[in-house]
Amino acid sequence: DGDRPFTAAVITLSDKGAKGERKDESGPAAKAMLEEAGYEVVECLILPDEPEQLKKQLIRLADGRQVDLILTSGGTGFSLRDQTPEATLAVADRNAPGIAEAIRYESMKITNRAMLSRGVSVIRKKTLIVNLPGSPKAVRESLGFVLDSLEHGLKILR
Ligand code: MTE
Repeated sequence: DGDRPFTAAVITLSDKGAKGERKDESGPAAKAMLEEAGYEVVECLILPDEPEQLKKQLIRLADGRQVDLILTSGGTGFSLRDQTPEATLAVADRNAPGIAEAIRYESMKITNRAMLSRGVSVIRKKTLIVNLPGSPKAVRESLGFVLDSLEHGLKILR
C-alpha cells in the first residue's frame, strides 16, 4: 500500500472563525496547496482556541483516522489564547523540530515577525503534525518552504 496518496487534515484555530464571525481563508489555502501536491485532504476543521478541543481532534485524526499529515493554522503567537503549540506538544510522541525550524528560518527572510510564531512540529504514532501561523499569507509562505521535503519523511513514517 506504499503507493496510495498521503492523507491530510487541516485544522484552523480561530475563536472568530469558529463562531462564524470571520471567513476562514487559511484552511482552504492549506487544503489547495496539499491537493496540488497530491495529498488527499480528508477533513478540514475550524476550532476555537481551546486546547482541550484541539488535543481531542489531533488524537482522533492520528489514532482513529490515521491520517499521514495534520496541519494546524493559527494560535501560535503571543496572545494568551494562543495555545496551539502546547496542545500539539501534549499529544506528541516524538519531536520533529527541523520542520518548525525551517519555517521560521525561511520566514525570517520575509518578515522579522516570523520569530513570534511559537509553532512546533511533532510525530504522534504514524502522523506528522505541523503548526503553521494563522494568516493566509503566512500559511502559503510557511507551507511553501517545507511541503516538498515532507514527502520523504512521511514515506519513512508510514
Ligand atoms: N510567517 C510568515 N512566513 N509570514 C508571516 O506573515 N507572520 C508572523 C508569524 N509568522 C508571518 C509568519 C506573525 S505577525 C505572528 S504574530 C506569528 O506568525 C504568529 O501568528 P499566529 O498567532 O496567527 O499563529
